[in-house]
Amino acid sequence: MCGIMGYVGEREAAAVLIDGLRALEYRGYDSVGIAVLDDAGEMAIHKRAGKLNAFAAEVAAREASGRQGIGHTRWATHGAPSDINAHPHTDCSGKVVVIHNGIVENFVELKQSLRAEGHNFQSDTDTEVIPHLIEHYLGEGASIDAAVRETITRISGAHAILAMTLAEPGVIIAARIGNAGGVVIGYGHGENYLASDLPAILPHTRRVVFLEDGEVARVARGAVTFSRDGRTVDKVPQDVPYDPVSAAKGSYKHFMQKEIAEQPEAILDTLRGRALFSESRVSLEDIGLDADQLRQIRRVLLVGMGTSLHGAMIGRYFMEQIARIPAEAENASEWRYRDSIIGPETLVVSVSQSGETVDTLAAMEEARLKGCPQVTICNVVGGQATRIADGVVYTRCGLEIGVASTKTYVAAITAVYLLACYLGQERGLIDRERMAGLLQPLAQLPFQTGEVMKRNGEYERLAQEFFRCNNFLFLGRGIQYPVAMEGALKLKEVSYIHAEGYAAGEMKHGPIALIDRDMPVIALAPRDQLRDKMLSNIQQVKAREGTVVALATAGDQEIAETADHIVWLPEATPLLNPVLTSLPLQAFAYHVAVRRGCDVDQPRNLAKTVTVE
Ligand code: G6P
Repeated sequence: MCGIMGYVGEREAAAVLIDGLRALEYRGYDSVGIAVLDDAGEMAIHKRAGKLNAFAAEVAAREASGRQGIGHTRWATHGAPSDINAHPHTDCSGKVVVIHNGIVENFVELKQSLRAEGHNFQSDTDTEVIPHLIEHYLGEGASIDAAVRETITRISGAHAILAMTLAEPGVIIAARIGNAGGVVIGYGHGENYLASDLPAILPHTRRVVFLEDGEVARVARGAVTFSRDGRTVDKVPQDVPYDPVSAAKGSYKHFMQKEIAEQPEAILDTLRGRALFSESRVSLEDIGLDADQLRQIRRVLLVGMGTSLHGAMIGRYFMEQIARIPAEAENASEWRYRDSIIGPETLVVSVSQSGETVDTLAAMEEARLKGCPQVTICNVVGGQATRIADGVVYTRCGLEIGVASTKTYVAAITAVYLLACYLGQERGLIDRERMAGLLQPLAQLPFQTGEVMKRNGEYERLAQEFFRCNNFLFLGRGIQYPVAMEGALKLKEVSYIHAEGYAAGEMKHGPIALIDRDMPVIALAPRDQLRDKMLSNIQQVKAREGTVVALATAGDQEIAETADHIVWLPEATPLLNPVLTSLPLQAFAYHVAVRRGCDVDQPRNLAKTVTVE
């Protein structure tokens, strides 16, 4: 993963790079570094392990000067997060500097052959072979463009690379190979920007070009040109929207807290103009599939990773129960290698907040090769997933900064619900009356989520009670099973507590052996057709002296009397209960993490966008 940033123009590059990296820290924060080239042709490199703030203060003190530079925030893959392994990396002479996102899969053999030619390496990283390969080709008389072009033919894997050299000041070369996260180029006036992602660029300009797989860009102050295999490619900049307000933390202590609070609005924005309540109709503007294609669908495969996978698992119920199409949800990193039997009759629905998760993109590529129509549920406008899929249903959440997804997850659930309604409608399965019944609960959802959030004080009290526990079990059945997994994932991610999400029916096949007073059980028991079964599970835990926190629908006294603690939820349609049950679990994880003193927005070892396998 890692965040990369480049600038060439009239301003001091160091400040621009540091601001850009701040917006990219969600991609990794193990180390940070910049290289700045000054007007006298001197290259200054500053880099160190740790997060950006301390680094920024250090660089400001040193007054790194120069109007061209590249910068990097790292999520370590090869080599510990140390000063020496921080990017940028250089060649032997220090004339070539490179930052990189991806894994050079054949770096061991490349290092060996470069060593045999006399190259010396400073770091344990795979990246360092890249500047040395560029140096090798420059030594053969190649231009920097040609040297980068040759270099990318030598390295295997997926990559995003920025390179500069003292031999050609005023120019930054960018290359993208495969899906190791993007490279976007922003067009300013007399200055240009490069970054892995839009948030770093949008404060400066909205005119951008996305680099595609196999393309190389040559970015100078007044001109940007593109090539593929040495041949010129014409690319036209596009304008993208930006809402700077959503990027600020405002009065909240953490982005996660803010983003949890923004969920009613995220749901509303995702519904706006799509759920046409008065007409009992769903309109999806960018679905990209015509009526014939929609009618031919026999099966739906939903794919995703992490929290998005849990959204996909919930979406499976929507596809089957609303659209009545057989559906499965799969972990993209597993499915991509399975050579699954699939073809044009299967609609692939990928769920990805960023649209850049490497395994999800690879699964989408696999589905494309197999001729499947595809729709992606994505939050980032122009994310790579939106460019692979035929159509997109954007979740309209604005930027999500907290590494642990919250608002984009509930908005994705909302978007898949809309998609299922739309499929049923376009395939002639859902008449107006039924659609009215499906849409009406959606209309209440923003208000109901607001009601659930008002009980934040209760979730905080529960956190206070349980934050010292070292193990948690989350149980759910049916559509609540993925919510149990998501509740456990949230707790693991932000508080580093061991937590398991289990299908409650599976409890007797193992997890029950773990139950004692020290392992709280969070039981998801809202009113639905499986509520009685959940009550039995709660009783079984109580019979073994376990402690139960139950989430139940308002008025369900039987559950309240059986469990030790109760979290009340508003009455809702069972299909939309997952949104309501998820919110207290997010808030609980947040408060536990805060009590344990964890870095809520940037948990250790994680990154928001995972662009490596
Ligand atoms: C990382 C993030 C998770 C996210 C997952 C999938 O693991 O930490 O919060 O759910 O990636 O990301 P995507 O952008 O594809 O939704």
